[in-house]
Amino acid sequence: LTESIFNNHKSRFERAFFSLIQKTSLKAAPTVLREATIYALSGKNKRLRPVLSLEACSLSGLTDDTAVSIAAAFECLHTYSLVHDDLPAMDDDDLRRGQPSTHIKYGESTAILVGDLLQALSFELLLRAKVPTRALEYFARAVGARGMVSGQFLDMQGQQDNNLTLHRLKTAKLIEAAIALPFLTAGEKLYLSRMRWGRELGLLFQITDDLLDITGDSAALGKTAGKDAAQKKKTVVALFGFDESKKRAQEIAQNLEQTARLIFPTSELFQSLPVFLLNRAG
Ligand code: IPE
Ligand code: IPE
Ligand code: MG
Ligand code: MG
Ligand code: MG
Repeated sequence: LTESIFNNHKSRFERAFFSLIQKTSLKAAPTVLREATIYALSGKNKRLRPVLSLEACSLSGLTDDTAVSIAAAFECLHTYSLVHDDLPAMDDDDLRRGQPSTHIKYGESTAILVGDLLQALSFELLLRAKVPTRALEYFARAVGARGMVSGQFLDMQGQQDNNLTLHRLKTAKLIEAAIALPFLTAGEKLYLSRMRWGRELGLLFQITDDLLDITGDSAALGKTAGKDAAQKKKTVVALFGFDESKKRAQEIAQNLEQTARLIFPTSELFQSLPVFLLNRAG
């Protein structure tokens, strides 16, 4: 059931997404840059962040048009983070979303610029959605110094602590924002508890990403498995060990499921998503 709600949102998103971004300034980009950007956004992927945004938008009563633009902003920002994450200077990964990484296919300089373009595009899409200033500010912080970029920096430096700050910043903050920004946009008061819930869901997602790097295979993941240990990355598993990490993920999922019944009483998706993500295979 969770899977069918998830896939419903996902296909709704994909139907609208590529035509929407063709209406942005992307159409003015040089042909190869535009192609490389579309390439990075394609391939086998989950569209988790857009799905979260679409659900939050529908719970908060935003229009379809606004919802798709917000969801698209999150997918663009996320994809930029992946394109840069795979670069030789970062994780040096040749495979992404079941296809050669953007820098393998188009070269490093183009991949860097695809990331830059996608980041700018994410702001353009939020402006198109006419989100209020405080939502824009929240997004800017979440993807930058108070979130993803700082987290990626800590990851590169191998700076990990027991509170999982690195993971909360690099992954959880954006997932939190994908859920909370729609509520913030709709002027809902409960957005703080939903922020907290989103952040924990994001943490759960990164722990399962670290677990899957060990147990998953490259075909199912669409990216190179076993890379974290080979590169001695400071993953959650490197910190706590496999069994303890798994246990923590289970505890987080249970807590999230209970909390979701209170703060998302009408959302079947949010109530069942924690356990769904805990047991995901790709
Ligand atoms: C991978 O994200 C990077 C992390 C934050 C763990 P996803 O696993 O959501 O990647 P796609 O979007 O499905 O390719
Ligand atoms: C990446 O974390 C998080 C980002 C902000 C992109 P990982 O380095 O673990 O992501 P994968 O495993 O390459 O997708
Ligand atoms: Mg990385
Ligand atoms: Mg990586
Ligand atoms: Mg990983």
